[in-house]
Amino acid sequence: MSDDDYSLDDYVNDLREISAQTQDHRAIIGKVRPLARRLALAKTWLKDAHYECNAEQGFGVHLLHEETDHTLAVFAVSWLPGGGAPPHNHGTWAVVAGVDGPEENSFWDRVDDGTREGHAEIVKRAAKDFAEGEVVALEPDHIHSVLNKTDATTVSLHTYGLHVNYTGRSRYDVEKNLEIPYVVVEQ
Ligand SMILES: [Fe+2]
Repeated sequence: MSDDDYSLDDYVNDLREISAQTQDHRAIIGKVRPLARRLALAKTWLKDAHYECNAEQGFGVHLLHEETDHTLAVFAVSWLPGGGAPPHNHGTWAVVAGVDGPEENSFWDRVDDGTREGHAEIVKRAAKDFAEGEVVALEPDHIHSVLNKTDATTVSLHTYGLHVNYTGRSRYDVEKNLEIPYVVVEQ
C-alpha cells in the first residue's frame, strides 16, 4: 500500500475547484491527470467490492462519486480476464488511471463524414498497455476500447465531466459500421 493519504474526498474537492476555474476540457484534463494518478496510487478508497464485475458486460462499474447534477462522476471500473469495452466515445472529458493490473487501450479514428445517421466507420490507430498509475485522457469525441489481457481482474479509476450514462455517447460496431447508443450497467 502507498503511504499517501490522499482521499476520495480530497480528490472531489480538487475536481470542484478545477471545474469552477475553467470550462475548457483540455485545461481540465491537464489539471485532473496528476490528481487521478495520485488517487489511483494512494488506493485509500479501494475496497474488495470494487473487484466485482457484471459477467455479461465483462466489467463492473462502481460509482464512487457524482454531483447531484451527475457532473464530476468518479468510478472504480473492474475488468474480468478477457473482458473489455467495445470502441466508444464518452461525450464528456475522461481521465482513466490504472489502479491494479495493466489494461490495453486501443485508440480509434473516425474516418466517415458522420452524415449518415447510425453509420460510422472507424479504424484503429494505436494500442498501448496502461499499468498502475498510468493515465489515459480522452476528449469528448475521442474513441477508445479497453481489454484486460491478463488472467486476473484489473481495476482502474475513471473520472468524467458528466456521468457517461447521461452524455448520449456512442459505441461503435466495427464489423457492421454502426454507431449505437452506449449505456453501461452499474453494480
Ligand atoms: Fe471509455
